[in-house]
Amino acid sequence: MRVPLLDLSEEYRALAEPIRAAVDEVLSSQNFILGPQVARFEKAIAVFCGTPHAIGVSSGTDALLAILMAMKIGPGDAVITSAYTFFATAGCIARVGAKPIFVDIDPDTFNLSPEAVERFLADKGADGEGRPVDADGNTIRAIVPVHLFGLCCNMAALLAIGRTHHLRVIEDAAQAIGAQCPLPEGVAQAGTMGEVGYFSFYPSKNLGAAGDAGMVICRDGQFAQALRVCRQHGMEPRYYHHFIGGNFRLDEIQAAILNVKLPCLDAWSAARRAAADFYREEFQRYDLAAYVSLPLEPFRESGATNHHIYHQYVIRTPRRDELREQLSRSEIGTAIYYPVGLHEQKCFAYLDYRAGDLPETERAARETLALPIFPGLAREQQRYVVQSIAQFFGHAS
Ligand SMILES: Cc1ncc(COP(=O)(O)O)c(C=O)c1O
Repeated sequence: MRVPLLDLSEEYRALAEPIRAAVDEVLSSQNFILGPQVARFEKAIAVFCGTPHAIGVSSGTDALLAILMAMKIGPGDAVITSAYTFFATAGCIARVGAKPIFVDIDPDTFNLSPEAVERFLADKGADGEGRPVDADGNTIRAIVPVHLFGLCCNMAALLAIGRTHHLRVIEDAAQAIGAQCPLPEGVAQAGTMGEVGYFSFYPSKNLGAAGDAGMVICRDGQFAQALRVCRQHGMEPRYYHHFIGGNFRLDEIQAAILNVKLPCLDAWSAARRAAADFYREEFQRYDLAAYVSLPLEPFRESGATNHHIYHQYVIRTPRRDELREQLSRSEIGTAIYYPVGLHEQKCFAYLDYRAGDLPETERAARETLALPIFPGLAREQQRYVVQSIAQFFGHAS
């Protein structure tokens, strides 16, 4: 049996007709840039997230770039984030001239560890506004928690750290649209807890475009307006430029497609969660707990429906590479997110991190394996995946 890592063709087939009609409408209108489809999608995302402002942008990467530019974060500044994330998070920080500061992850959730952030900040001095200053004299201005694999970070703790140290909190919710997180005041949506948050609609995301697309969400009207200006080269009105922005616009055809898909998102996330539940049952049936750790669900009992949206289903085992080879021979698709911590990437050698500096990031990079998960994944495919893993560990009945 072949089990691909991701196959969204069933979801597309169900929506092919309205998607084609929506694209056709844009083509007929000849209105391709910041037209009614983008405005409608922005409004729909704002409603979906329960936040006042949503600004459509060209990708998740450009969302973060635009946010950092609008915050005027640059040379002499530093931003704390995770080294166990997609490159874009740290790449954008470096692109605006700021210094990425990598802090280790929680080994159970793979998300930025609030305790490690606290430890990092503990001995730092402060600038005149009470913000921490790192050993090179950079002012630490922000923290970017990444809600990896569709699970929110421990935001209650990270927001408290942000308040204490006067750090702006930018949520990287690229992999987590719709995910929910318990806060002391109630359950909150990913992207709405910090000052600003952003999503990616890369095609393989839970809500995927037919190309690149992204969205920023925020509460503050002035900041939303700054982002709208930033996504058009800092231009307002036409041909008058207040600051240097970029072409970060979401285009009409992508927005039209996303408008059709958004109403299905909660059902797709529920299907992913049901598949995760089934994996758990199967792993238990084969008694594999001594060999394989399954994804943790720290918010399951919180009352949040979307306590995890399983953008990825990631297990860990010290025998990851051998297991992956065996599964590949059995025609089961897997992936490694991510094989190298960002602190050990060549392009960040100038930051002078050493192997061993972020032990949990480094161990995760050696041990994690993403298994197939998508809304149309069949139960017999999942049975086959777990049975193949059980066979590898000599536990198949
Ligand atoms: C955690 C994370 N941050 C940022 C991005 C960047 O998003 P995009 O690919 O839309 O530029 C991604 C997406 O791939 C991501 O997974």
